[in-house]
Amino acid sequence: MSGMSSLYRNLVPFKWTYGEVTLHFGAGAVGALPGYLAGTKRVLLVTGRTSARASGALSDVERSLSSAGVERSLYDRVSPNPQSSQAEEVAELVKSTGADAVVAIGGGSVIDVSKVGSAIAIGGGSAMDYIYGRIKAVPRLPVYAVNLTHGTGSEANRYANLTDIAVGDKIGGEVCYPRVSFDDPRYTLTMPREEVLCTSFDALYHAYESATTAGSPPLAQDISEAVVRNVARALPMAGTDPSSVEHRYWLMYAAMLGGVAIDISPTNLIHAVENFLSGMRPSLPHGCGLAIIGPSLVRLVHAASPDASTRMLRALDPDFDGTPEGATAALSKFQSSVGFDRTLGDYGIDGELLATAVKRAFSNELSVNRIRSRLAGLELDAEKLLRYLRSLL
Ligand SMILES: [Fe+2]
Repeated sequence: MSGMSSLYRNLVPFKWTYGEVTLHFGAGAVGALPGYLAGTKRVLLVTGRTSARASGALSDVERSLSSAGVERSLYDRVSPNPQSSQAEEVAELVKSTGADAVVAIGGGSVIDVSKVGSAIAIGGGSAMDYIYGRIKAVPRLPVYAVNLTHGTGSEANRYANLTDIAVGDKIGGEVCYPRVSFDDPRYTLTMPREEVLCTSFDALYHAYESATTAGSPPLAQDISEAVVRNVARALPMAGTDPSSVEHRYWLMYAAMLGGVAIDISPTNLIHAVENFLSGMRPSLPHGCGLAIIGPSLVRLVHAASPDASTRMLRALDPDFDGTPEGATAALSKFQSSVGFDRTLGDYGIDGELLATAVKRAFSNELSVNRIRSRLAGLELDAEKLLRYLRSLL
């Protein structure tokens, strides 16, 4: 066995601190939770409808809380592509139950709702006040994040994404880090196959966009390259061997690093556009939306940032030829090699919805600024963007 492959088999748990979050990574990570709860009397558990129970994470957390003598209440109604009102419901429940911490058990939607809900509970205001930075999440209740997917990276960064119920725009903003996060790859084994693919694509596009955003420093680029290499290697194996914890370890590791990469250098065009699609069509999983529009939009990103783009795409496909057309081909080839074949039509997205999404993306100040300023020299108006997207129908 070579040194490389023995390293690959050695799934070493570790703990580290990035930004304001301490992360416990590896099998059994959540066992460290009670050590942080001295002085905590009651927590609010925040989950989606199924994965917290199906993965076994909820019962592990409940056992930990009982052993530490901590009382708990439960909010289990977070939906994919969550609306801002859910964070406000969490804040209300924090106040009415007297919880002094929030424990998020789920993927990005659950962690993001928990970040914003914990901030509102102390600082007041509305969820979008925090997404748009009108109110800063200081002080706030601590959020403990038990991450159940390998895509979002929200357990490792400041970001939260919510859909503004007033206007329907889904957008991400800098809100707050969790206090402590737990990444146990075993919890991802119960994810449905499509979610395995889509969350991994989310991590892949985080890395690609973080590296290609104007001014991306070497730190973000090196981390991003590691993300792409790990997804390229582990995702095909997770597909053929879905019960292996080993492949999930590397996918979760990649996703966590992707979360750090976008914290250092943010995403650009593909995320900005996708957010409006899944905001308007919540049945479209975010990572799935990225993978549908990514191969078409990547040529614009590649043209704006050819060196970083080439570096990332060579990590995905050593045969990448360095051209914008080749960028499209490299992403399409990888995505179909792991069995991804979804289209916009599968989610009922037609030309009219695309036109509305693009119009909204260009009339939202935060989003248009991201589209225009994060890719050097990109001349893109709503009409041109819509042409690219319509080619997908
Ligand atoms: Fe994302």
